[in-house]
Amino acid sequence: MLCWVVCCLMWLISALEESCSELPPVDNSVFVAKEEEGQIMGVYLCIRGYHLVGEQTLALSLSEEWEGPSPECRLGHCPEPVLENGRINYSGPVNAGDKIMFKCNDGYILKGSNWSQCLEDHTWAPSLPICQSRDCDPPEIPSHGYFEGESFTSGSVVTYYCEDRYRLVGTQKLQCIDGEWSSSCPTCEPVQEAPRPAEQILAFREIKDLCGATESFVRRLKESGLTMEEVKYSLEMKKTKLKADILLKYHS
Ligand SMILES: *[C@@H]1O[C@H](CO)[C@@H](O)[C@H](O)[C@H]1NC(C)=O
Ligand SMILES: *[C@@H]1O[C@H](CO)[C@@H](O)[C@H](O)[C@H]1NC(C)=O
Repeated sequence: MLCWVVCCLMWLISALEESCSELPPVDNSVFVAKEEEGQIMGVYLCIRGYHLVGEQTLALSLSEEWEGPSPECRLGHCPEPVLENGRINYSGPVNAGDKIMFKCNDGYILKGSNWSQCLEDHTWAPSLPICQSRDCDPPEIPSHGYFEGESFTSGSVVTYYCEDRYRLVGTQKLQCIDGEWSSSCPTCEPVQEAPRPAEQILAFREIKDLCGATESFVRRLKESGLTMEEVKYSLEMKKTKLKADILLKYHS
């Protein structure tokens, strides 16, 4: 390619020495001349990092003048578009105004716009998309829980379970849909033991060992987490019940 350019330039320079007007100067470009069907054509190629605005090819007229307005090489193309796991219909630097289309490979899904255009300020709009795998990452595992399910491909379902004495909060079944789980991973919360009624905790077992009974009463009292008010109320209830029992016994 370079040789071709150099050869052409040399040919052009030798041709120009004989005749023809001056080259319209275009900064940051390489000028290449070629002959097509007896017609001499001049082609501007912008150097790397610049993009062409205007007509790329000028023809040399019979009066040996270059015809038409000369183009400009402006700094910057749009950044080279990249689409991992996909395809873009472009080749070579993309100039302002050019449109490109995106397609993802099988097993990938396009996230974003399926087209983009190179703007005058050398940015892409809409912004470049990505090709996301349709497979999901392994789902999270909640503490004190686990899931069942071995496949994480699109459409697969995993089911969550919690260890004993833990209950599941959230969604039990998650489905992988085009690379994303249908909802967030559930959690396993400890099951709150239902507080036993005060009556039951405070029931003094009718046993001979008073000391042991008292100890066990105090222990159960602590475990119950009852307030003093609640204890007092329960004891009052118990006292009343005993009184009633005694009355019933002696008056029957
Ligand atoms: C890409 O394809 C679209 C639609 O077919 C077309 O408009 C556009 O010019 C193409 N771009 C390139 C750089 O070939
Ligand atoms: C691009 O996306 C639009 C809708 O978002 C759709 O109608 C069109 O068919 C898509 N083009 C291609 C080539 O996939």
